[in-house]
Amino acid sequence: MNPGDDDVHVVGLVAEAAQLDAWLGRAAAGEPVVAVVEGLAGSGKTTLLRRFLRRHPGLRVTAVAGLPWESRRPGELAGRLIGGGAGDPRPRPAQLDPVDLGAELAGRWEAAAGGGPAVVAVDDADCADLLSLQAIASAADRLRAAGVLLLLFRTVGEPASGDPEAVDVLDRLAAVHLPVSPLGPEDTRLLAARVAAVDLPPPVARRLGEHTAGNPRHLLEILRETPPARWSDRQTRLPAPGAVQRRVQRALDSCSASARGLVEAAAVLGERPVLADAATLAGLADPLDALDEACAAGLLAPAPGHGLDVLAFPGRFDRAAVHATLTPRARHDLHLRAAGLVPDETERLRHRVEAAPLPDARLAAELVELARRKADEGAWAVVAGALVDAARISPTRADREDRLIRAVDALAGAGLIGQAVDALPDVEALPSGPRRDAVLAHVAIQRGRRAEAATHLDTAWRRRGADRGSAAVVCQRHVLHALADWDGEALVRWAGRAVEHAEPGSPAGVESRAIVGLGHAARGHLAAAFTAYRHAVAESPSGPQHQRARMGLGWLHLAQDDPEAARRELEFAVPTTRQAGSNRISLWALVWLARTRFALGDWDGALDAVGQGEVLLGTTGLELLRPLVHWTGAQVRALRGEREAAERHLQLGGAGEQDYTVMTVPALLGRAHVAEAASDYAAVVRHLAPLATRTPRGGLDEPGFWPWHDVYANALVVTDRLAEADEFLGPLETTVLRRGHRSAGARLGYVRGRLLAGRGDLPGAEAAFEEARARLATLPLPYERARVDFAHGITLRRAGRRRDAAALLATARQSFAALGARVYVERCDRELKTGRPAPRGTGADAQGLTEQERTVARLVATGLTNKEVAASMLLSVKTVQFHLTRVYAKLGVRSRSELAARSAGGPLPR
Ligand SMILES: Nc1ncnc2c1ncn2[C@@H]1O[C@H](COP(=O)(O)OP(=O)(O)OP(=O)(O)O)[C@@H](O)[C@H]1O
Ligand SMILES: [Mg+2]
Repeated sequence: MNPGDDDVHVVGLVAEAAQLDAWLGRAAAGEPVVAVVEGLAGSGKTTLLRRFLRRHPGLRVTAVAGLPWESRRPGELAGRLIGGGAGDPRPRPAQLDPVDLGAELAGRWEAAAGGGPAVVAVDDADCADLLSLQAIASAADRLRAAGVLLLLFRTVGEPASGDPEAVDVLDRLAAVHLPVSPLGPEDTRLLAARVAAVDLPPPVARRLGEHTAGNPRHLLEILRETPPARWSDRQTRLPAPGAVQRRVQRALDSCSASARGLVEAAAVLGERPVLADAATLAGLADPLDALDEACAAGLLAPAPGHGLDVLAFPGRFDRAAVHATLTPRARHDLHLRAAGLVPDETERLRHRVEAAPLPDARLAAELVELARRKADEGAWAVVAGALVDAARISPTRADREDRLIRAVDALAGAGLIGQAVDALPDVEALPSGPRRDAVLAHVAIQRGRRAEAATHLDTAWRRRGADRGSAAVVCQRHVLHALADWDGEALVRWAGRAVEHAEPGSPAGVESRAIVGLGHAARGHLAAAFTAYRHAVAESPSGPQHQRARMGLGWLHLAQDDPEAARRELEFAVPTTRQAGSNRISLWALVWLARTRFALGDWDGALDAVGQGEVLLGTTGLELLRPLVHWTGAQVRALRGEREAAERHLQLGGAGEQDYTVMTVPALLGRAHVAEAASDYAAVVRHLAPLATRTPRGGLDEPGFWPWHDVYANALVVTDRLAEADEFLGPLETTVLRRGHRSAGARLGYVRGRLLAGRGDLPGAEAAFEEARARLATLPLPYERARVDFAHGITLRRAGRRRDAAALLATARQSFAALGARVYVERCDRELKTGRPAPRGTGADAQGLTEQERTVARLVATGLTNKEVAASMLLSVKTVQFHLTRVYAKLGVRSRSELAARSAGGPLPR
């Protein structure tokens, strides 16, 4: 673990570092934390660990690394863990079993954690021997109340070479895991500036990121080896890292002519060449000897899961490296012959483009024709690829411009916003017209730039002219704009116009029909919404349009209290199985899948979807969906008491009030959830007030879609603004009743219950809680149910019905615990504690504090204001002041800071 020379260049790793610090914080509070940090080879795991340890120099650290050649020596790594100190005798592992060894490890770690957190780090844990991993797992299981942070670092993503049982143990330990993210384009540019003093143009940084999958090790190699001047060319062919290039060159040189021919043919054909095609292209009647040779040389391999008929390149850059060894002439000839060979039309044209040294009008026209047909299927990524090529090889300027506009539009449609933005300056330079302005609007929408989109849409519609096709496209972009604003009226209106102008079966019409259901739903016309979706699904039985319709249907099911059906639809809609699938739809599906899993109580699954969403946000640049992705992340992390992680989501998922509604609402809701988890109800009201004061609120109040009302109204009640809460709830309750929406009714119901209780109507309150519970009875919504029980429980407790309150709070606690909602588990515990009648004679502790006083003292000592304490204990501020005065008197302290100092010394119970 010597500090690497490269560490001075480190960029990114911010979220990962924050997560490690948060875990350390927990360990410092006396809680054992076991976590696995995962990433591809070279993704920066060791770097992350080194920096973490350097940031916290005073820690007690035991760090070891697995070594491949020791992985077959049972107990070797555990022995090194135990023999941490010099001269310590190592155990004789052969005589130990994992349980004994685990007990010993746990004992040592707990002892080390005696006076502060202890960190145990195992780097390259995937190389550790099985016995040691089992021992570590046993030890992890035994850690109870010791402040130990156990971190295992593990390489993933390669064909698992190790012992499958060892992999299994690591999988089990990875219940809490932290993926190391790839570097994004900004970090790539920063790295380029630092290591190569190069100012990478953003489009090149983006391409380089895709080329290397954001892997720092590969990026460093390529940046160091490439002459800086090459980076100014936007189209520059990206090289393989030098080490790979040299290895491949050596391997090719060692091959016979036929093996080399086979490898070269395979490289020209693609990432997954068909063996038969490669053999034909290389002129080999029997390719098996050549294949054996190429495999032995590490240049080719059978593609996993395909038998022998499909090939693959073993390393990420191998194909590029082989391709780079070809002379221009050889490359041209091979691609041209490949074009005559492959069955797929798109691929055929790609080969011809690769072979075309000069502009070619006929080839460009063929590409445009292909794009037209693929657009009808909604396969926007293919359309974009074809049109980008067509623009490049078109001989006339007019054709180049027209094709460029269409290409950028297709890029936006495919959710390839980064590439669209790269080409934007060229589009903006063209004279205004409906197609150009509609494209600029399209890109602006996907980037979440509402005002810009509105301006372009406006001019595009005014200048639409007589071309109905162009007009239909402009209408369809208006539909997207309305969806982003959750404006059902406008959405339905523009969808109608789009269908009216569009040619039957053309994309503008089909896509509008696949979205219009959401417009109906936003207006409360649910039957129409479901009908529209049934038609949309039937109209496009496969392909991206089908994916789009299923995503919308899933969203609708979620909002209409059928999360099981929603999960089915959304899990179907997430994968971008073929290149033709749309990343954009995948991301929409992921954000609603995260919500769906959250609703169903599968919070790990929800976080998983959030994580995938974050990756897709990075690759697509769909800023419009950024707050939606982070909303669920912020909520789950906040409820689990992981404040730093929640804050990170808030920071990444922020939006302003002037942004699109689908950005503003989740951004504000995220903030409200985090404030609510911190019992800061005044802040909850503050965050959601912009929604409450919107006029008209339109689709925002349609039950089920944006569950913000109960959060807001509940905070009003808790902060004693009962009249406002009442006024706010009234009209919503009417709508909910009219729609018969059960979960929305339950959400409003529990707030109504608390409101009635606040006004002294306990029977009314109880009826409201019971009704809320009945509404949820058959719905699979555990968190909603727990909220009702919790609200009911604390209401009864306040009313002095302690026994009933305790039963409800215990039920709520159990549900919260099952969900991992730590914050509410603790609140239930607090309530249950303060709610328990004190046994006679023992109501006060050594300092003479009562339960209530102790709770107040502890909360004040953690830095909460009286108001916050009051909110979290459901007392009035006056009562808190009263308790606090008595605490001061009994403890003989005069200020909050003295109190905090006293509590840091330990006498205040937790
Ligand atoms: N965030 C980063 N910024 C700059 N350089 C980085 C970053 N992360 C890693 N590197 C550099 O990339 C190389 C690989 O990093 P590191 O060894 O930490 O990766 P790893 O995930 O531990 O790899 P392995 O799987 O091989 O153990 C090192 O040269 C390191 O300095
Ligand atoms: Mg490493």
